[in-house]
Amino acid sequence: MNKIIKVALDGPSGSGKSTIAKALSKKLDILYLDTGAMYRATALKALKLGIDTFDEKGVLTFIDNIDLEIKYIDGAQHTFLDKEDVSEKIREPQVSMAASNISSLKCVRLKMVEMQRKIASETSCVLDGRDIGSFVLPNADYKFYIEASVEVRADRRFKELSLKGHKVDFEELKKEIEQRDYNDRHRDFAPLVKAEGAIEIDTSFMTIEQVVNKVISFIE
Ligand code: DC
Repeated sequence: MNKIIKVALDGPSGSGKSTIAKALSKKLDILYLDTGAMYRATALKALKLGIDTFDEKGVLTFIDNIDLEIKYIDGAQHTFLDKEDVSEKIREPQVSMAASNISSLKCVRLKMVEMQRKIASETSCVLDGRDIGSFVLPNADYKFYIEASVEVRADRRFKELSLKGHKVDFEELKKEIEQRDYNDRHRDFAPLVKAEGAIEIDTSFMTIEQVVNKVISFIE
């Protein structure tokens, strides 16, 4: 592919964005940036420092100088915090909720967006997140809004966490997803919205392959 293209994939937690984005980046041979990992690493930093994830003053003490790096190792994104590879740690359930909370802070979003735009500049890429089409890359060539019912998303998350050996309660997971949806949609700054011109795909009853093919069909 010669022309530089930017693809924005937004949607709520567990809608399948990251799986689709990964497959898409492979198929199109372009960079994939999981922006949620950056909010997760920021939350992990706050947890490590014992700073409440809603405490903007506390977060302001570290956010400008956060040592957060995204590296690609054998084509896969790795997230480094203070030089440590935290790619696994940031997936733990307590980090998910903390990331949802800390992502409501404007100072955090401005810092993350600045880093995301830098990574995405001058290269073809697919970014997944909540505000990619509406705020990070409003001029993206292709914008998709990936949806799925809360039940389906909780079920996917349940299976994913169970496979990793986490003991989880389905109803609690569902409640947590609903809470994160609420946070994402109701924050003051750059909330989760379907960006203008975004193509909406409900993945509830689709396989990954079907969704990827559908996305590719719009791009090609
Ligand atoms: O996609 P994820 O579940 O890994 O994202 C973790 C949290 O980060 C999620 O609760 C919302 C937030 N987030 C965001 O606010 N904006 C983004 N572009 C990506 C993630």
